[in-house]
Amino acid sequence: MKVRFVAPDGSVREREATLGERLLDVAQRDGQPLEGTCEGDMACATCHVIVDPADFARLPAASEDEEDMLDLAYGATRTSRLACQIVLDESLGGLTVRVPDGSRNMQGR
Ligand code: FES
Repeated sequence: MKVRFVAPDGSVREREATLGERLLDVAQRDGQPLEGTCEGDMACATCHVIVDPADFARLPAASEDEEDMLDLAYGATRTSRLACQIVLDESLGGLTVRVPDGSRNMQGR
């Protein structure tokens, strides 16, 4: 399956992902600037991505803990998610997410 990353500079890259893999791991393999500091413990929000609105409904709903962390994410939008919480399955092929500008400075507001 493939997923697409839209970098802060607007460039789009498609990556091959393995079923069951976390979106964060695919992004990091691609060199996208997502730190993922807490390794998926929902304690950092440095893995924040903005899901393409057309794809957002395909994702399982965020947990309350994820929503709380997204509240702290710099530049969060209504389709923001934590990439460490997105586990790729066959229903998510072609998922497109934008890597926000300033993802290295999530506490910046
Ligand atoms: Fe820290 Fe996702 S890696 S919240």
